[in-house]
Amino acid sequence: MIIIARFMLLALLFSFLANTSQMVFAKGSDEVQEACKVTRYQNLCIHSLSQFSNTSGRSPSKWARASVSVTIEEVKNVQTYLQKLNRNMSMRGRNRIALSDCIESFADAIDELHKSLGVLRNLSKSIFSTQMGNLNTWISAALTSEDTCIDGFEGQSEIQIKLLRNRVRNVSCITSNALALVNKLATTGIGSITDP
Ligand SMILES: *[C@@H]1O[C@H](CO)[C@@H](O)[C@H](O)[C@H]1NC(C)=O
Ligand SMILES: *[C@@H]1O[C@H](CO)[C@@H](O)[C@H](O)[C@H]1NC(C)=O
Ligand SMILES: *[C@@H]1O[C@H](CO)[C@@H](O)[C@H](O)[C@H]1NC(C)=O
Ligand SMILES: *[C@@H]1O[C@H](CO)[C@@H](O)[C@H](O)[C@H]1NC(C)=O
Repeated sequence: MIIIARFMLLALLFSFLANTSQMVFAKGSDEVQEACKVTRYQNLCIHSLSQFSNTSGRSPSKWARASVSVTIEEVKNVQTYLQKLNRNMSMRGRNRIALSDCIESFADAIDELHKSLGVLRNLSKSIFSTQMGNLNTWISAALTSEDTCIDGFEGQSEIQIKLLRNRVRNVSCITSNALALVNKLATTGIGSITDP
């Protein structure tokens, strides 16, 4: 009798565990969709942030941090690509100047985003609104740098320019999403951080 009861308890426990792990999985994908609701480019947001679903859960500060760190990665990738284009001298005239301006703008954007990540790693209730103000300023500046970069080039039909614009536009959308997630943190997140 006792053995059977134990067995049933175990079986119950196993099915409970199996269910909860399924729930974690389902919950994980729900959470990225929930978090991405405030962003303008939701599919891109879900695609680029789904890997953080389990760790970020429903925490606005974790989502903000994840989105800024993903943005930094992609800005760096595009910067590497721009530098490659610059080295192989495939651009001429106005586009050559636009390219070197772009590389400078991207370096600034990387600085602004690194400063932002630093703040997000060290959120503090006592200076929360100052921190949110800085984040908004810096990420907006990074976004402006990226958009300015796109505007500098001429010759829409050239394949190389098309490709470049697509990549920069992509990173600009990712940055815009990060800004939205930071703004969500600013409006809802003070309760979600634990520091004094
Ligand atoms: C989230 O966690 C579950 C259970 O631990 C795991 O199976 C799943 O792959 C994770 N999802 C992601 C996107 O990492
Ligand atoms: C220059 O680099 C770009 C991007 O890597 C590449 O697509 C292009 O073919 C290169 N052009 C030359 C002339 O090497
Ligand atoms: C983190 O925030 C605290 C409190 O505002 C500040 O004293 C400290 O210098 C900050 N640390 C870093 C690494 O920015
Ligand atoms: C846009 O960025 C994401 C990474 O965040 C990347 O996976 C994707 O390949 C990029 N798309 C383009 C067109 O550059």
